[in-house]
Amino acid sequence: MALYSEKVMDHFRNPRNVGVIEDADGVGEVGNAKCGDIMKMYLKIENDTVSDVKFETFGCGSAIASSSMATEMIKGKPLEDAMNLTNKAVAEALDGLPDYKMHCSVLAEEAIRSAIDDYYKKHPEKRKDN
Ligand code: FES
Repeated sequence: MALYSEKVMDHFRNPRNVGVIEDADGVGEVGNAKCGDIMKMYLKIENDTVSDVKFETFGCGSAIASSSMATEMIKGKPLEDAMNLTNKAVAEALDGLPDYKMHCSVLAEEAIRSAIDDYYKKHPEKRKDN
Protein backbone atom coordinates (compact mmCIF):
# COMPACT_ATOMS: atom_id res chain seq x y z
CA MET A 1 0.00 0.00 0.00
CA ALA A 2 1.24 3.47 -0.79
CA LEU A 3 2.40 5.43 2.23
CA TYR A 4 0.28 8.44 1.28
CA SER A 5 -3.26 8.48 -0.08
CA GLU A 6 -4.06 10.03 -3.44
CA LYS A 7 -5.82 12.86 -1.63
CA VAL A 8 -2.72 13.66 0.40
CA MET A 9 -0.62 13.70 -2.76
CA ASP A 10 -3.19 15.85 -4.58
CA HIS A 11 -3.37 18.45 -1.80
CA PHE A 12 0.42 18.40 -1.44
CA ARG A 13 0.98 18.96 -5.18
CA ASN A 14 -1.90 21.41 -5.69
CA PRO A 15 -2.53 23.01 -2.33
CA ARG A 16 -5.74 25.04 -2.12
CA ASN A 17 -5.93 28.48 -0.52
CA VAL A 18 -2.22 29.18 -0.32
CA GLY A 19 -1.29 32.78 0.38
CA VAL A 20 -1.82 35.74 2.63
CA ILE A 21 -4.92 37.79 3.46
CA GLU A 22 -3.56 41.29 4.01
CA ASP A 23 -6.60 42.57 5.93
CA ALA A 24 -7.29 39.32 7.78
CA ASP A 25 -9.61 39.44 10.80
CA GLY A 26 -7.64 36.73 12.57
CA VAL A 27 -4.12 35.39 12.10
CA GLY A 28 -2.66 32.38 13.82
CA GLU A 29 0.83 30.96 13.69
CA VAL A 30 1.90 27.70 15.25
CA GLY A 31 4.92 25.48 15.04
CA ASN A 32 6.13 22.08 16.02
CA ALA A 33 9.29 22.32 18.07
CA LYS A 34 10.47 18.83 17.13
CA CYS A 35 10.39 19.07 13.35
CA GLY A 36 10.62 22.86 13.15
CA ASP A 37 7.68 23.17 10.77
CA ILE A 38 5.56 26.33 10.89
CA MET A 39 2.00 27.02 9.77
CA LYS A 40 0.25 30.36 9.48
CA MET A 41 -3.51 30.79 8.94
CA TYR A 42 -5.35 33.93 7.86
CA LEU A 43 -9.12 34.21 8.37
CA LYS A 44 -11.67 36.63 7.06
CA ILE A 45 -14.83 36.57 9.18
CA GLU A 46 -18.22 37.92 8.15
CA ASN A 47 -21.43 37.34 10.10
CA ASP A 48 -19.76 34.69 12.28
CA THR A 49 -18.80 32.79 9.13
CA VAL A 50 -15.38 32.08 7.66
CA SER A 51 -15.76 33.99 4.41
CA ASP A 52 -12.15 33.45 3.34
CA VAL A 53 -9.10 31.59 4.54
CA LYS A 54 -5.52 31.32 3.35
CA PHE A 55 -2.43 29.64 4.70
CA GLU A 56 1.34 29.57 4.48
CA THR A 57 3.07 26.40 5.58
CA PHE A 58 6.80 25.98 5.85
CA GLY A 59 6.75 22.31 6.46
CA CYS A 60 6.51 18.76 5.29
CA GLY A 61 4.15 17.43 2.63
CA SER A 62 1.66 16.14 5.19
CA ALA A 63 1.53 19.55 6.86
CA ILE A 64 0.89 21.24 3.50
CA ALA A 65 -1.81 18.70 2.58
CA SER A 66 -3.39 19.05 6.05
CA SER A 67 -3.50 22.84 5.87
CA SER A 68 -4.93 22.74 2.35
CA MET A 69 -7.65 20.26 3.33
CA ALA A 70 -8.41 22.11 6.58
CA THR A 71 -8.94 25.41 4.74
CA GLU A 72 -11.36 23.71 2.37
CA MET A 73 -13.24 22.24 5.32
CA ILE A 74 -13.81 25.58 7.05
CA LYS A 75 -14.27 27.95 4.12
CA GLY A 76 -17.84 29.27 4.08
CA LYS A 77 -18.59 27.50 7.37
CA PRO A 78 -19.78 28.99 10.68
CA LEU A 79 -16.96 30.07 12.97
CA GLU A 80 -18.11 27.54 15.53
CA ASP A 81 -17.59 24.66 13.09
CA ALA A 82 -14.10 25.96 12.31
CA MET A 83 -13.38 26.11 16.05
CA ASN A 84 -14.45 22.49 16.45
CA LEU A 85 -12.48 21.11 13.51
CA THR A 86 -10.24 18.34 14.78
CA ASN A 87 -7.00 17.07 13.32
CA LYS A 88 -8.64 13.65 13.19
CA ALA A 89 -11.35 14.97 10.88
CA VAL A 90 -8.70 16.57 8.66
CA ALA A 91 -6.69 13.33 8.50
CA GLU A 92 -9.86 11.34 7.73
CA ALA A 93 -10.79 13.76 4.95
CA LEU A 94 -7.34 13.08 3.49
CA ASP A 95 -8.09 9.34 3.60
CA GLY A 96 -5.63 8.95 6.44
CA LEU A 97 -2.07 9.85 7.33
CA PRO A 98 0.65 7.50 8.56
CA ASP A 99 0.66 7.39 12.38
CA TYR A 100 3.98 9.17 12.67
CA LYS A 101 2.59 11.98 10.48
CA MET A 102 -0.56 12.62 12.54
CA HIS A 103 1.18 15.50 14.34
CA CYS A 104 1.28 17.36 11.01
CA SER A 105 -2.53 17.50 10.97
CA VAL A 106 -2.46 18.77 14.56
CA LEU A 107 -0.69 21.88 13.29
CA ALA A 108 -3.69 22.65 11.04
CA GLU A 109 -6.15 22.32 13.94
CA GLU A 110 -3.97 24.50 16.17
CA ALA A 111 -3.34 27.15 13.51
CA ILE A 112 -7.08 27.58 12.90
CA ARG A 113 -7.81 27.79 16.65
CA SER A 114 -5.04 30.30 17.10
CA ALA A 115 -6.40 32.47 14.24
CA ILE A 116 -9.89 32.33 15.78
CA ASP A 117 -8.46 33.25 19.19
CA ASP A 118 -6.76 36.22 17.57
CA TYR A 119 -10.09 37.26 16.02
CA TYR A 120 -11.86 37.04 19.40
CA LYS A 121 -9.07 39.01 21.04
CA LYS A 122 -9.68 41.80 18.55
CA HIS A 123 -13.48 41.45 18.80
CA PRO A 124 -14.27 40.36 22.36
CA GLU A 125 -17.91 41.35 21.87
CA LYS A 126 -18.29 38.46 19.38
CA ARG A 127 -17.48 35.81 21.95
CA LYS A 128 -20.60 33.73 22.63
CA ASP A 129 -19.54 32.74 26.15
CA ASN A 130 -19.33 36.35 27.28
FE1 FES B 1 6.61 18.54 10.94
FE2 FES B 1 5.02 17.24 9.36
S1 FES B 1 7.02 16.67 9.95
S2 FES B 1 4.60 19.03 10.47
